Amino acid sequence: MPRSTGIPAHIAIIMDGNGRWAQKRGLSRSEGHCAGTRTAKDIVTRCRELGVRHLTLYTFSRENWSRPKDEIGLIFDLLVQYLRGELQNLVEQDIHLAVLGEMADLPFAARQALSLVMQKTADCRTMTLNLALNYSGREEILRAARALAAKNLPPEAITETAFADELYTKGQPDPDLIIRTSGELRLSNYLLFQAAYAEFYFTDTLWPDFDAAELERALADYAGRQRRFGRTGEQLPA
Ligand code: FPP
Repeated sequence: MPRSTGIPAHIAIIMDGNGRWAQKRGLSRSEGHCAGTRTAKDIVTRCRELGVRHLTLYTFSRENWSRPKDEIGLIFDLLVQYLRGELQNLVEQDIHLAVLGEMADLPFAARQALSLVMQKTADCRTMTLNLALNYSGREEILRAARALAAKNLPPEAITETAFADELYTKGQPDPDLIIRTSGELRLSNYLLFQAAYAEFYFTDTLWPDFDAAELERALADYAGRQRRFGRTGEQLPA
C-alpha cells in the first residue's frame, strides 16, 4: 500500500498544555509559558534540521484575548524575548519569519520586534516560520471573501486558487501534518481552509514536554499514513 513518504513540507502545531504542565509541578502558568517558549525554540531548530520547509505555530488565537490581562502581557513579553534572542539564529539558519493574523491589534513592542525580524529574514529561504498571532481561521476566510468581493470579480473567477491567494498563507503549501499536544482533540479555529487534506496527530504530551523525540514519533506516524486525497487505495501510485 502506498505510504506518504518523507518529511512533511508543512507542519502546523497547536502548542497546548503549558498551563497544565505548570500546574502539575506546582508552578505558575507563567512558568508554563516560559517552558513552552523554550520548546518552541527547540522545535523550530529541529524542524529546520529535518528539512521541513514551512512550520506554523499557533502562538496566540483571537479567542486568547479573553485570557487574564497579565497572562496576555506575559505571552507577548515572551514573544518579544524570543524574537530578540533568536534574530541572529533565524538569519543564520536561513529561516524566514511570517505572521498569520492581524498584526495591527498586537502590542506595540510585539509589532516592532516582529517587523524587525520579518525585515531581517525577508530573503531567507530554507524554512518559513509562520507565527499565528491574533489568528482566527473563520476571520481569515471572511477577510479573503471581503477582499475578493472588493475586486468585483465574476463568480467563475472565484476559484480555490484565487481564494487561497487572499489568505495569510498565500504562496505556501497547505499543512501536510497538524499536531496538537495535551490530549485535546479540536482544531480550535486553526487553518480552517488550509487544513482540508491535512493529516492529524494528537498526543497527550503537554507542549513543554514535546521534544525532538516526540517530534520524530509524530513524523514516523505521519510517514506510515496513506494520503488518498479522495481517491481509492487502488488509484494511488505504487
Ligand atoms: C497553550 O497553553 C499555549 C498558548 C495559549 C500560547 C502560548 C504559547 C507559548 C508561550 C509558546 C510561545 C511560542 C513562541 C514562538 C514565542 P495553555 O495555556 O492553553 O495550556 P492549558 O490548556 O494547559 O492551560
